[in-house]
Amino acid sequence: VGQSTQASTQNASASEEPLLHDASSRLVTTQSVELFPEQAPLLLESGATLAPVEVAYETYGTLNTEGSNAILVCHALTGDAHAAGISLSGRTKGKAGWWQGLIGSGKAFDAEKYFVVCSNFLGSCYGTTGPTSENPKTRKPYRLQFPQMTVRDMVRVQRKLLSYLGVRQLVTISGGSLGGMQVLEWALMYPEMVRSIIPVATASRHSAWCIGLNEASRLAIFDDPEWKGGDYDTQPAKGLALARLIAIISYRSRISFENRFGRHQSAPQSHQIWTQLSGENGELFDVQQYLRYQGKKLVDRFDAATYIYITRAMDLHDVSRGRGELGDVLGGIKARTLCVGINSDVLYPAEEQKEIASLIPHAEYREIDSLHGHDAFLIEFDQLNRLIGDFLAEVESHTHIGLSR
Ligand code: COA
Repeated sequence: VGQSTQASTQNASASEEPLLHDASSRLVTTQSVELFPEQAPLLLESGATLAPVEVAYETYGTLNTEGSNAILVCHALTGDAHAAGISLSGRTKGKAGWWQGLIGSGKAFDAEKYFVVCSNFLGSCYGTTGPTSENPKTRKPYRLQFPQMTVRDMVRVQRKLLSYLGVRQLVTISGGSLGGMQVLEWALMYPEMVRSIIPVATASRHSAWCIGLNEASRLAIFDDPEWKGGDYDTQPAKGLALARLIAIISYRSRISFENRFGRHQSAPQSHQIWTQLSGENGELFDVQQYLRYQGKKLVDRFDAATYIYITRAMDLHDVSRGRGELGDVLGGIKARTLCVGINSDVLYPAEEQKEIASLIPHAEYREIDSLHGHDAFLIEFDQLNRLIGDFLAEVESHTHIGLSR
């Protein structure tokens, strides 16, 4: 497997980079590979084809000779391949990965033991081919010429990446939200590769509630005059910020906002958020400042057309599409399963996770106790480490996973 199995990590202690703030963290670089050449393009669910497909990914740890100690983690809507360690380059330079609390030495996804892979999914804007990539036919960004991808298409690309890396078996696959949708699809599309799955705060098919919220976000973008039917020169900032603002509210809970912000009106922070966009200068409640800041932050790092494509892919997500009744489809999953819910999640509520667990034969349900709502899957690392660590210990005791190097 040669070069492809080399972890994209360096030992932090060997470096004097001023980036480090956690001695146990490793420095990582996002890698890139071109898959699906012209002669063997990616065939999407829609029937469209794409070639070539660039894939951005990171790995942590070392793949064993059998290719059987791998774990795949899947990111959510605006996430990226930088799941752990401290990034050495690009947009994420100096930043810890989004699941830094779970991946690494002594953590649930222990990089001393497992080979952990995270890739930016198809259709995103962080290094993998998507609407911001150059269309080889026009030499311009695809934008709305990009074919609508689905969660299944994302998984197909991940499967190709894992072959390239020499991975034969996955000890587990995990992810929250849209990440969890990929997890469920993996168990159905490539069951022979998957020993266990850990879907977190997700959906087996997107609910009317979630589709409605995504629709509000998309309309905010479409209504921005800068959108220009998708042919924008400058980002439709107001629309994208408003889309994020709507989403951010749904990621939290009433009580978390109440506890955190109440009716406080602090003096405006250094980040004089969005006044240049809204023209409004009056005193703002803290919650307003927070939401505007989050909106602005996304505008600075994301792309409006990409937001449209990914939210559509989420809305299209339905594991039963073309496969039969939902119960029969989930009932066909053979992998041992840990479904994780969050008791304050209003987007993908605990009840929905319990239902998924009840329909998968070898599934157990565990709950994160948190006030943070849906975002708890990015915050409550102590609880997640405990739940996932226990589950993986059980998976290892029931299956003979070759973890030797
Ligand atoms: N006014 C303005 N800004 C404020 C603020 C206020 N009253 N209170 C906090 N902030 C800013 C902080 O300065 C900080 O800025 P920075 O990110 O530039 O450092 C930021 O808000 C912190 O965000 P917060 O939500 O408070 O972080 P958290 O620790 O509670 O949550 C994450 C951690 C990872 C969940 C959160 O940072 C994040 O990324 N949220 C994105 C939500 C998301 O995409 N979820 C996935 C759903 S699928």
